[in-house]
Amino acid sequence: MRANLALALLASSTFAQATFQLFNFSSYVDIENSALRPNGHLLLTTFDQGRLYTLDPSSRAPEAHLVAALPGATALCGITAIDHDKFAIVGGIRGSYSYTNETIYTVDFTRDTVKPIIHTVARIPNAAMLNGMASLPTQPHIVLIADSRLGCLFRIDTKTGISKIAFKDDSLAAPANASIPIGINGLKVARGYVYFTNTARGTFSRVSVSADGLDFGDVELIATLNMDATGGDWDDFALDTDGVAYVAQPDNSIARVEPDGQQAIVAGGGGTKDIIGPTSVQIGRNGTLYVTTRGGTVDGISYSGQVVEVQLVGV
Ligand SMILES: *[C@@H]1O[C@H](CO)[C@@H](O)[C@H](O)[C@H]1NC(C)=O
Ligand SMILES: *[C@@H]1O[C@H](CO)[C@@H](O)[C@H](O)[C@H]1NC(C)=O
Ligand SMILES: *[C@@H]1O[C@H](CO)[C@@H](O)[C@H](O)[C@H]1NC(C)=O
Ligand SMILES: *[C@@H]1O[C@H](CO)[C@@H](O)[C@H](O)[C@H]1NC(C)=O
Repeated sequence: MRANLALALLASSTFAQATFQLFNFSSYVDIENSALRPNGHLLLTTFDQGRLYTLDPSSRAPEAHLVAALPGATALCGITAIDHDKFAIVGGIRGSYSYTNETIYTVDFTRDTVKPIIHTVARIPNAAMLNGMASLPTQPHIVLIADSRLGCLFRIDTKTGISKIAFKDDSLAAPANASIPIGINGLKVARGYVYFTNTARGTFSRVSVSADGLDFGDVELIATLNMDATGGDWDDFALDTDGVAYVAQPDNSIARVEPDGQQAIVAGGGGTKDIIGPTSVQIGRNGTLYVTTRGGTVDGISYSGQVVEVQLVGV
């Protein structure tokens, strides 16, 4: 009985949801990306002087605590787990839709769960704008990083620091005439595919990838954002075990994209102000979504970056 009920809920395309802010910065901080630690705490990368923060979403009044400012970076972007409680993070000197001194760091909490060991493992001088990052499931010390300007994936071995462009395709680039020149943004590796959003094209796609991250197939389009109907664009996303994506869709929504491309707004949207400038999504152990935002201006009022909890219940 219970199993049937659960299936019925999952098959539904309508969701009831509760959305509430766990935390917001009091001065302006743009939270760019996030990762979950094994203890359920979030790591938050920001455009705030290369600072990495941590936040315990289960605490009574969650607060972001500074972990470290990563050396030589003004802005941090993609983050991914590369081992148990060890993460790779990309950061650089942020310019206008371009970065210099793009650097890959590792942040290792295994010896000390509060003050991690931080290493600079690679510099990527030929990158233009590194954005989302994901590790390879069977070789997690190897990461793929999206370059939003070059329209490619860098493959970086965080043990050796060796990097190369592993895949380049028009579907990862912004069109030449795009008003916001950000192509591939977020990515995840799962089930033998790299799933990715392209912000300027408004697309969510996948491409098959070999276990070692060296060989790629043809890009398959999964969904196209209806920009006229819903506005906004697509930033980073989380992928659940069924291959359903929860995509940050600025200015104020979270879109759910099913493997067959069906899409629906499941949180925020309309005239709501619960989620202001979503940038990334994590799925907590019990299915709760944790959304980070960059903040923004709504009705003339400026808001800072937030961490927002979204509980979805199929109805
Ligand atoms: C899921 O876990 C979070 C963090 O512990 C908690 O705040 C939330 O209420 C839980 N949600 C459900 C549906 O149990
Ligand atoms: C960028 O990297 C170069 C070469 O390592 C270094 O000389 C320079 O100081 C760095 N720039 C900044 C702003 O940190
Ligand atoms: C870019 O060019 C394409 C093809 O010519 C056109 O369909 C599209 O509307 C243009 N977009 C912008 C933002 O100008
Ligand atoms: C933080 O959130 C509170 C509650 O929603 C809101 O009133 C306040 O304006 C926010 N502050 C900033 C700086 O975004």
